[in-house]
Amino acid sequence: MAKYYHITTYGCQMNVHESEKIAGVLTELGYEACENIEDCDIAVFNTCCIRENAENHAFGNIGMLKKLKAKKRDMIIAVGGCLTQQMGKAEDLHGKFPYVDIIFGTHNLGNLKQLILKKQARKKAVIEIEDCDGKVTEGEKPFRTSYPNAWINITYGCNNFCSYCIVPYVRGRERSRRSENIIAEAKQLISEGYKEITLLGQNVNSFANGTDDISFPELLRQIANIDGKFRLRFMTSHPKDFSEELAKIIAENPKICHAVHLPAQSGSDAILKAMNRKYTSGDYLKKVEILKKYVPDCALTTDLIVGFPGETDEDFKDTLNLVKKVGFSSAFTFVYSKREGTVAAKMENQVPEEVSKTRIMELISLVNSQTREQSAKYVGKTVEVLCEDYDKKKNLYLGRDEHGRMVYFESEKDISGEFVNVRINSANGVSLMGEITNGKE
Ligand code: 5AD
Ligand code: SF4
Repeated sequence: MAKYYHITTYGCQMNVHESEKIAGVLTELGYEACENIEDCDIAVFNTCCIRENAENHAFGNIGMLKKLKAKKRDMIIAVGGCLTQQMGKAEDLHGKFPYVDIIFGTHNLGNLKQLILKKQARKKAVIEIEDCDGKVTEGEKPFRTSYPNAWINITYGCNNFCSYCIVPYVRGRERSRRSENIIAEAKQLISEGYKEITLLGQNVNSFANGTDDISFPELLRQIANIDGKFRLRFMTSHPKDFSEELAKIIAENPKICHAVHLPAQSGSDAILKAMNRKYTSGDYLKKVEILKKYVPDCALTTDLIVGFPGETDEDFKDTLNLVKKVGFSSAFTFVYSKREGTVAAKMENQVPEEVSKTRIMELISLVNSQTREQSAKYVGKTVEVLCEDYDKKKNLYLGRDEHGRMVYFESEKDISGEFVNVRINSANGVSLMGEITNGKE
């Protein structure tokens, strides 16, 4: 059987799910995954360009394949993902790495089969980058790799144009799938035994905006009403569109997890304005208050950027203060990365690298201390865990509670994909250790 090797440059969940879609196409074509790149007949890179290091990582990986390709001339190298969708990048890639056989855009996943056949029939590289604007693909058959969790795209693209972000340029304007297709996909996944559904979009709250379809809270309600025991999550929510109605829906439907990812990006009003986020830190705190009013135990996670152009020590302190006030259960922290073509790339006062490095260390240390504090509160409690996997090194099973906390525990039989009650005995930073129990406290 022909073999494929797949490399994902981790960007966002969108990227991870796209890798599942690529794997779906390859599986349909009769390829099977292999663990060693030297053994493959086709190597596929799913790239990301959201930050420069993700982009460099992709370039580095592709560069390393030159030698292997010289030895294995029939091996096909294909590069896709949002990096290729950047203006001029496909030509750039082709010029730098002429041994790459196929370069395809985020909207050309469905065509990958034709592109591979085309390449097999000719010598020249095949480059196909379609403008993804306005396009919604249906009927994809992802090869899902994260059982018992399953991702479902509900929107594509973004209209927000945060001044640092390249996503609106590479993924086009926001558009939504039809709710009936999403609900049908969710029903199918649940009937296949998936136990956790995560709805994906750059800004899920504006689902179906300007169309005659149902709203995002109503979509959540209808999916939560599907029969069967499962959990429902969603990401990402833009704070400006986070509504009271959504908080109520979370509170009213036990299947919707009490966990919300609400990217704050900064705690400084001046920086938030320069980022074009359309809210102040006060507005953000109000949204948190509304959420906590309806869902008091809701875990909040966030994204934070340090070193945005013009960020002063005072601005950075505002970010630290926001983190202290909210008490996030965890946070993704990033150093600002200049992306060509964005509004912020043209801004003066770019922050020196050493300053950003010091700030990110301080921020990470604060976030970690909050995470540790919250983990410690779990000790002695019993939580329901969806068992996801088995950790060979630790010789333990692992899964998450509804708040997204990672829990490790022993089990005599394989219980992947099952819900179990686990009594937490100890906390170790982000993760928890416990034992299966029949009772609930
Ligand atoms: N630099 C640093 N972080 C960025 N993000 C998006 N663009 C950039 C950039 N240019 C972060 C934001 C976003 C997350 C997915 O990536 O925090 O929420
Ligand atoms: Fe980028 Fe802002 Fe859109 Fe998120 S909301 S994808 S940060 S432009």
